[in-house]
Amino acid sequence: MSINIPRGTKDILPGESERWQYIENKARDICRNYQYKEIRTPIFEHTELFQRGVGDTTDIVQKEMYTFEDRGGRSLTLRPEGTASTVRSYVENKMFGYPSQPVKLYYMGPMFRYERPQAGRFRQFVQFGVEALGSKDPAIDAEVISMAMEIYRELGLKSLKLVINSLGDKESRKAHREALIAHFQPRIGEFCHDCQSRLEKNPMRILDCKKDREHELMKTAPDITGYLNEESADYFAKVKQYLTAMDIEFIVDPNLVRGLDYYNHTAFEIMSSAEGFGAITTLCGGGRYNGLVEEIGGPETPGIGFAFSIERLLAALDAEGVAIQNEEGIDCYLAALGEKAGEYTVGLLHELRQAGISAERDYLGRKVKAQFKAADRLKAKYVAVLGDDELEANTITLKSMADGGQTEVPLDDFIETFRKIKG
Ligand code: HAM
Repeated sequence: MSINIPRGTKDILPGESERWQYIENKARDICRNYQYKEIRTPIFEHTELFQRGVGDTTDIVQKEMYTFEDRGGRSLTLRPEGTASTVRSYVENKMFGYPSQPVKLYYMGPMFRYERPQAGRFRQFVQFGVEALGSKDPAIDAEVISMAMEIYRELGLKSLKLVINSLGDKESRKAHREALIAHFQPRIGEFCHDCQSRLEKNPMRILDCKKDREHELMKTAPDITGYLNEESADYFAKVKQYLTAMDIEFIVDPNLVRGLDYYNHTAFEIMSSAEGFGAITTLCGGGRYNGLVEEIGGPETPGIGFAFSIERLLAALDAEGVAIQNEEGIDCYLAALGEKAGEYTVGLLHELRQAGISAERDYLGRKVKAQFKAADRLKAKYVAVLGDDELEANTITLKSMADGGQTEVPLDDFIETFRKIKG
């Protein structure tokens, strides 16, 4: 019996992997422009990190983590997201002491959540994310948001909707929390089991419930806007002002709460508004998490970031019909006629590659016609044909596949000639 791939995961095959590389390269380029530096953290962490970091009352921690005990009896978890790990590393490596502040980091790698797989939702997916730690200037909130928008824009996405909200500071959240409890408590019996346990622990989570979404109390629930204290409201006003200054359009949605516990102040999501995009329209999510560094054992440090999955980004590109140029042809295909010539191309191919020229030869003993077909399939710009006779005469024929033009080149000058052609 053959063994299949696990549910909710996928293989990225040649043809598709070039699209991934293109996106990854674009994201890295933009990080360079914005001065975010790469951090790579382990795929698994102590389970406690996510319980404390992401939050005990979240769906992620309660239902979706891949948690296991290792042979030493420690509870470990495959990372469901990148923020908690980044903050753990920030604290552990005392990045708060780095001379260059704020510390701006990015990451790209697989995350794991035990969710019901569907279009745009996987159990293993690749997140690209950024985290800016050490500044509570609303300009950095705007920078982080603009960066996410810039990556999407650069890749050619147009049907995007940026939704923002402020969750306020501790004081504002406390006032809102009390209002929510007062609102839901009298009829909490009509809500799902999860919501009932959320009421005391984290009533804001109720607003994010998928099961009770249609309950009438959801529509009348007090939103955070009315509970923002002056400082929080001013902060939010500045973020909006900076976004406007950058010509970034946004919609304020007071019901945007996000699925993770660490957020305060700015929260945002970017959705695809492309027709034909699946049921899950959120492409990217992020926000501010002042307090998380302390929660993980570090000094008081503000932070903000976002993450998006490459899977959803690709789905959005498909929905908008944006093609990524993913197949670059090779520079040269070495076609050989005859045994001696064939043997000679082994060394020649090696020299070409050492000179930085992408090249290929036949490995299946094919006739010259079939070798030309193979060259076509590889979109070779040139085919160099070497026969036993030519080898004897120390020449090689170079054929341009673009215009069919042919030149005979002394074999000793071949690499140099090719270098010149390539420029
Ligand atoms: P999140 O909203 O849980 O936030 O996830 C961010 C993004 O990851 C989503 O918008 C989506 O693109 C992608 N994503 C999440 N789950 C899946 C899945 N099962 N399949 C495919 N894609 C998925 C966070 O993870 C926060 N750490 C973001 C952040 C960074 N906040 C501050 N800094």
